[in-house]
Amino acid sequence: RKRVAVFISGGGSNMISLADACAASDFPAEISAVISDKPSAGGLAKATARGIPTYAFERKDFASKAEHEAAILMALDDIKPDIICLAGYMRLISGAFISRYEGRMLNIHPSLLPLFPGLHTHQRALDSGMRLAGCTVHFVTEGMDEGPIVAQGVVPVLTGDTAEILAGRVLTVEHKLYPLALKLLAEGKVKMENGRAVHETATAPLDAG
Ligand code: GAR
Repeated sequence: RKRVAVFISGGGSNMISLADACAASDFPAEISAVISDKPSAGGLAKATARGIPTYAFERKDFASKAEHEAAILMALDDIKPDIICLAGYMRLISGAFISRYEGRMLNIHPSLLPLFPGLHTHQRALDSGMRLAGCTVHFVTEGMDEGPIVAQGVVPVLTGDTAEILAGRVLTVEHKLYPLALKLLAEGKVKMENGRAVHETATAPLDAG
């Protein structure tokens, strides 16, 4: 089974969905560690409750971004992950860090990328007038939310939606999408080659149903 380190900053519901998937004996990956830039992140206690080792590296405890990342990289040298999953990790990672794990690092973003990268994504989706919204798992590259796409899920935009309501509907699909995307990568069914995602087979569209 592939070893996975999950990076979080908050509640960690996506991390839990990955841990739940990994609990199945035929799943090709296991969570070896959960790492947060916020010691108060709710997801850390949830990981501990499941017996998953946790690490917290708060940015303000380090003099620079480079030193903060160096501390995380040192922990990763012990953890020895095959794959890193960013799951609500709200910090931009440097190119030097990413190059160490190129093609082995995934992120989930709650929009149908390349639309609405970055912050306030749900409000921007609503403001656009689109009748579909969704989420994307992609390989991490230096540009924010820009890497090659591994898998996507869609939901409808409904009358009366607020950013909060839409975020909740998208999150439900995120919890199905991320385990599916991790499985594809762990089984070698998707690879990053020359900056593109190469898919072994088409994946059926994932939706709220
Ligand atoms: C998720 O919706 C995730 O897609 C989003 O933060 C939430 C984290 O929730 N990530 C981003 O916006 C990254 N730019 P969680 O902590 O419950 O998984």
